Amino acid sequence: MGLWLLLLLLHFQLVLCVLLPAPLDVSISSFNLEHTLSFLPGPHTPSDANFTVQVLHSRKNSWRPVAACLELKAGQICNLTKTFKDLFDHYRARVQAVTPNKTSNWTMSRWFQPVSDTVLGPPDLSVSGCGNCLILQLRLPASTVLRQNLQLKDLYRELVFHVQRTRDGTQFRLNLPYEEETVITYLQPGVEYCVTVSVTSLFNSNTVPSKPQCAFTSPPSSRSSLPTVFSLMGVFSVLAFLFLGLVVYGSQLSFKLLRRRIPRTLSYIFQIRRSAPPECLNQSSAYRGFSDCLRWKSEGPD
Ligand SMILES: *[C@@H]1O[C@H](CO)[C@@H](O)[C@H](O)[C@H]1NC(C)=O
Ligand SMILES: *[C@@H]1O[C@H](CO)[C@@H](O)[C@H](O)[C@H]1NC(C)=O
Ligand SMILES: *[C@@H]1O[C@H](CO)[C@@H](O)[C@H](O)[C@H]1NC(C)=O
Ligand SMILES: *[C@@H]1O[C@H](CO)[C@@H](O)[C@H](O)[C@H]1NC(C)=O
Repeated sequence: MGLWLLLLLLHFQLVLCVLLPAPLDVSISSFNLEHTLSFLPGPHTPSDANFTVQVLHSRKNSWRPVAACLELKAGQICNLTKTFKDLFDHYRARVQAVTPNKTSNWTMSRWFQPVSDTVLGPPDLSVSGCGNCLILQLRLPASTVLRQNLQLKDLYRELVFHVQRTRDGTQFRLNLPYEEETVITYLQPGVEYCVTVSVTSLFNSNTVPSKPQCAFTSPPSSRSSLPTVFSLMGVFSVLAFLFLGLVVYGSQLSFKLLRRRIPRTLSYIFQIRRSAPPECLNQSSAYRGFSDCLRWKSEGPD
């Protein structure tokens, strides 16, 4: 009887306190040595459940909680970049669902080694033309300062450039060591090429290439620059036209002003002429003689 009671109690304990569904799909992904852990809640996990993360170092052999990942919600990720400090150590992580009076079993990730499991992205690439050549400028992607004084580029074996001529798709491949600036020579001038870069790693083959970056080797050929020339000429002729218009309009304006003044003087003269005695009108067409005659007429002959 006592044994049955004990078994019954044990069963209740299991049902009430242990049996939350365990999390699913616990996995670590890593890009350029930034590591994140993700998981899914098991089916029928209460939506308010918290999830807690622990990690195991192969050298230390004991599970330790990850301070930043004690109370995660479903859908949140755990950033393990700082936790997996040693690039060459092997790690494992596990996740448990927790409510105030229940916990789930732990679900474990696979073993993970930063240096061999990370995916290496390409360096930032910019391309510019230099005649019959292309200048490729590379910048390392921003990444946390690594322990052991390593930089991301120390993991690169070499860089692989794919160069393709846009016009006809002719392409070739170059394997070169990492340099901040690389020049590819003996290309066709005035022609567009597109370049992608990827790295090969010393420790794995998980890499992704860059997006293609395109540039002309030298300023685009005269044929393709013709439209620019034409449009520039167009702009200039419009400007010249406007200027001419302004000049013409301006001169018309001053002409009008002039005309508005001239008639006044002319009509003044004509008025005098009209009131002048007829003798004076026959006198002379010269203004001087005309006015002398007027004076003579009004003052009388001496
Ligand atoms: C993870 O942490 C590292 C170091 O603290 C940080 O640089 C990085 O941006 C974080 N990544 C995410 C996805 O939060
Ligand atoms: C989850 O953690 C938060 C923060 O500590 C706490 O307030 C909440 O009660 C927890 N939820 C459950 C279901 O345990
Ligand atoms: C904890 O368990 C008891 C039963 O053992 C239940 O009545 C109570 O609602 C539970 N509390 C929470 C917050 O789920
Ligand atoms: C928890 O783990 C134990 C033993 O590993 C297993 O018997 C039990 O079924 C698991 N429970 C759940 C809810 O997965």
